[in-house]
Formats: sequence, structure tokens, C-alpha cells
Amino acid sequence: MSDISSQLHGGYAHDLTRAWSAQSSSLTKSMFMLPLFISDDEQCNSPLKGMPNQHRWGVETLPGFIEPLVRKGLRSVILFGVPEKKPKDETGTLADDPEGPVISAIKMLRSRFPTLYVAADVCLCEYTSHGHCGILHPDGLINNVPSVQRLADVAFAYAKAGAHCVAPSDMMDGRIGAIKKKLIEEGLAGKTTLMAYSAKFSSNMYGPFREAVASAPSFGDRRCYQLPAQARGLARRAILRDVGEGADIVMVKPGSIYLDIVSEAKRIAPDHPVAVYHVSGEYAALHAAAAAGVYDLRAAVIELSHAMARAGASIVLSYFTPELLDWLEA
Ligand code: PBG
Ligand code: ZN
Repeated sequence: MSDISSQLHGGYAHDLTRAWSAQSSSLTKSMFMLPLFISDDEQCNSPLKGMPNQHRWGVETLPGFIEPLVRKGLRSVILFGVPEKKPKDETGTLADDPEGPVISAIKMLRSRFPTLYVAADVCLCEYTSHGHCGILHPDGLINNVPSVQRLADVAFAYAKAGAHCVAPSDMMDGRIGAIKKKLIEEGLAGKTTLMAYSAKFSSNMYGPFREAVASAPSFGDRRCYQLPAQARGLARRAILRDVGEGADIVMVKPGSIYLDIVSEAKRIAPDHPVAVYHVSGEYAALHAAAAAGVYDLRAAVIELSHAMARAGASIVLSYFTPELLDWLEA
């Protein structure tokens, strides 16, 4: 078996990952990746309360939404599953249910939209009865070893279904290496990008997302695995660790108030594309501020996007992607 540091192909096997590796400072449509919430109700089309213009989609309703966006230049999406019909359990069995929303949507998108790059978020919180991102010990703390194994299995299932990219957002220790090894063993490392949510902070900005996917923890919080806001050093260590474990892309999350960490990521991992996640709470706040007359939404989003690019991001996960496809030239 080849070792982790020998694996580069996953980071540039696709024309989009090649573009992301090129590094430029102007805003382009291909920088933006649209997060999508996929329900297991095939006909679902329900607007999200806390997030203007965002919906939960089903595999039947999604193509009608995606098709015009692809025509306007949409290049990539990232999928989040929302199980609504089947019961959740302690280990998040539904995460890689072969008939579940994420695997079905990957297959549908790959066959109907050949130019679209399809990423899948890998986590357990949408699928566990307790709402935490890993498997727990009886005392409620994270049990890291089985968590990482489970996440590697889920990531492999998404890659096998056709995802171009798997993106673990769970923040368990060692999951990047475990996923990379699994992809190597299964022969998928050469065509699957591993995008690590490396510096993911425990943040107040995730509220609307947790409501959208019903993933709020049923007890406690995520401070034992997501990073403390003041921890620049831990962020650096997590980035370097994930690079060492075989990440093709490193991500910082949330966006606007962590741009110092984005530039830090670019400095310490200059040879990796850096992604930034402009999260649900930031999105909702921009809408609310624009509605209150604080600024023009379009101008504010463009300025913020420049700030993210300037800080060093070449990929921006943004709920504003549909608008940006209208606002940007190319
Ligand atoms: C869960 C996950 C979260 C987000 C992405 N994946 C929320 C959390 O960690 O509680 C946040 C995205 C957003 O707020 O837009 N692993
Ligand atoms: Zn999670």
C-alpha cells in the first residue's frame, strides 16, 4: 500500500480541483460551492425558516432547482442529508443508508449534471439520536476510535456512490488519515478529493443550519471537539495535522470573523487550496442587516467575498452562490 504523503491525484483529478489549485485573487463563479440540504422525502421542497431563499430538497425536486443554476455557471455543490422519515440511532446508521438522501442525490446529480462537481459533507450529527458528531461513551463523551472508523465507512460509501469530494465536518481526531487510508485501500484515493474541515470553531453562527437539518445536540455542546474561538494555536495544529494526514483541501469555518485564520492557513499550508465556509448564521445576518437598511445585500456580499479571497481562500462554501452566479461575469 502506498503511504499517505504519496497521494496527490485526489487533489487535481478533476478540472475544477485543477482550477482551485491555480490560485488567483479575482472572484470567479467556480470559486463558489453551494451547500444543499437533501431530505429523504423525494418530493420535498420546503423553505427553511431561518435562511431566506434556502430549501430542503428531495431527489425528485432537486433537478428543477439545479438545472438553471448549472446553465448560469454553477460548478460545485456540497450535500447535507436530512433524514425525516426513518428513525435516528446512536451510531448514525442512516448516514450511509444506500437508499438515503445523500447517496441517492450523489447518483442523481452525477448522472443528470455531468459538469457538476459533487461534494458530500461527512458527519454523524444529522443521523445520530443524540445529535453529536461522533459515537459516544456511556458517559456522553466522544468515543474516538469507533467514531473515526464509522466516518471512514461513510466517506467511502459516498465516494463509491460517485462523490468527487468527501468533506468530514465532525472534528474527530485522526479521521482525515483514516478516510485517506480507506480511500487508498479501496482504490478511490486517486479520484476523490478529501476536503478537511480543519479549523472548525465552536461557533454561535451555526444556529440556522442546525435547525435546517435538525442536528442540534440533545445534551451538552460541541466544545470538546470543535475549536475554542480564541485558539489560533489549536487551529494551526489542526491544519498541519490534517495536511499531514492526507487532506487535499483545508477549510476554515465560519468565514467572516475567522479570516485571520484563513490567512494563517494559507501561510502554513501554502501549497494546498484553502476553503472557507460562509455559514448559515453569517448568511442570515447579512439578509437581516440588508433588510434593516444597513447596506445593499449585493454590495456587501461582493465585498465580503473579496475579503475571503484576499485572506487566501480559493474556495468559498456559500449560500449566496445562486446570487453570485448572476452578479459575477465569469
Ligand atoms: C455539522 C455541521 C455544521 C455545519 C456544517 N456541518 C453545524 C455544526 O457543527 O453544528 C454548519 C454549517 C452552517 O452553519 O452553515 N457537522
Ligand atoms: Zn456534525
